[in-house]
Amino acid sequence: MQFSIRALAPEKTRTGCLVLAAHAAENSAAGDTSSFTLARAGQLADRAASGALKRALAQGDLGAKAGSTLLLQRVAGLAAERVLLVSLGARGEFEVGAFRSALRGAAVALNGLGAKDAVLYATDFSLPARGLPWTVRNAVLGLREAAYRFDQMKSKKQSGPKLAAVTLALAGAPATAQVQAALKEAVATGDGIDLARTLGNLPPNICTPSYLAEEARKLARQFKLELRVLERADMEKLGMGALLAVTAGSRQPPKLIVLRYGGAAKKKRPLVLVGKGITFDTGGISLKPAGDMDEMKFDMSGAGSVLGAIRALAGMRAPVNVVGVIPTCENMPGGAATRPGDIVTSLSGQTVEILNTDAEGRLILCDALTYSARFDPEAVLDIATLTGACVIALGHVATGLFANDQRLADAIRAAGDDAWDRVWQMPVWEDYQEQLRSNFADFANVGGRPGGSITAACFLARFTRKLRWAHLDIAGTAWKSGREKGSTGRPVRLLVRYALRAHGARGASS
Ligand code: BES
Ligand code: MN
Ligand code: ZN
Repeated sequence: MQFSIRALAPEKTRTGCLVLAAHAAENSAAGDTSSFTLARAGQLADRAASGALKRALAQGDLGAKAGSTLLLQRVAGLAAERVLLVSLGARGEFEVGAFRSALRGAAVALNGLGAKDAVLYATDFSLPARGLPWTVRNAVLGLREAAYRFDQMKSKKQSGPKLAAVTLALAGAPATAQVQAALKEAVATGDGIDLARTLGNLPPNICTPSYLAEEARKLARQFKLELRVLERADMEKLGMGALLAVTAGSRQPPKLIVLRYGGAAKKKRPLVLVGKGITFDTGGISLKPAGDMDEMKFDMSGAGSVLGAIRALAGMRAPVNVVGVIPTCENMPGGAATRPGDIVTSLSGQTVEILNTDAEGRLILCDALTYSARFDPEAVLDIATLTGACVIALGHVATGLFANDQRLADAIRAAGDDAWDRVWQMPVWEDYQEQLRSNFADFANVGGRPGGSITAACFLARFTRKLRWAHLDIAGTAWKSGREKGSTGRPVRLLVRYALRAHGARGASS
């Protein structure tokens, strides 16, 4: 889908579909659905159409709830072929949630039309508190999210949406450089999100560690990035005993992908993003139950989000230095697999008693985190579908945030709010470390059921003492189950926004 921004007079706009927004009256929940207030572009269009839009609204066919839509064909006085009226909900309740619902409603309606192009009045959808660049970014990402299809594994492709081009129109104000930059950022971020979603959705017999390494190679070629892929022999030489323990039962060769984008001065310390890349998690000898085990193909979502974020940042030529470090392998049972009770020596030199082979994410991450120190990072973020306990704690709304530096945690939370890809902070207190006690090694890889996502973070914290480090547990947010089963692409939006705000040359940008 192509996006552009232009100042346009709504009545003269020639397009397959003109998208206009209206606020419902405050008392509309009480049943009075006939009173809507058209936003600015809608008012202008209505005047040119001799009041046809207001008359249509007065019929009561547009629902008051944000995201309800009403389609009008060939309105006399307007150059557009169709008009799509979208409810923003009541003005007093117009927050990010209502904005997103309105955009999703518009996107679903547009995707069901024969129209090849549409003009959406960004200024009319704009949230007063957020400003136009924010609106542009979120409009693009909302429309792209709804337009995404994954049908490459279907023998017969379903015909997707016809909509190929969307103009975000500004009533009055010309597009400033800031607004144009927001569009460029959003399109690149959308490309990164789509990549992360597709990698997550691909089946585990195709999306293997070698496949991820090949994807990284494609990105390196396309965006002129530096790439290094460590093989099993390299890991053995370095002494990555924890990562090697996880891959032991698999026929697929493990990889440690190091992908580097330098958009800022060489001397600027990089942001390192470490992504968990378990391309399938059976649990190993501590085998998982059969129900829904297929969903463990998404266990490489952290890796996918790192590749997606780097694609986004490189695509928009962001002034940041980023290194992606992706430990990737399968977690399989078998004669060569690691046993519960095995003790291994990690790259850090610390020994780990593996009491549960299903707690494998922390084992591949700990060696990758230790390895990350060699880049002299400004900050290290790891992203992982790490614990079922995090899903119990925060559900599918917030990503779990853990950090050993409060300023870093605050910056990530703020970026998450800005991107509406939200996180909630959990403690990494020393008090919890006791649960990882082992009689035989330095510590164990599991700490029992209480506070399961916290003890997982505490395990990682033992490998990041010298780093400014944060950990994102995306087990509840990286994919959806049920009818809508599929990858969400989270937290690419957050990662991109954080990188731009905290590591961009100009510091915080709006
Ligand atoms: N990949 C899983 C975490 C997971 C589980 C993500 C369910 C999404 C949904 C991880 O490797 C795992 O198996 N974690 C165990 C840890 C336990 C053995 C301490 C878990 O959460 O049960
Ligand atoms: Mn597991
Ligand atoms: Zn896992």
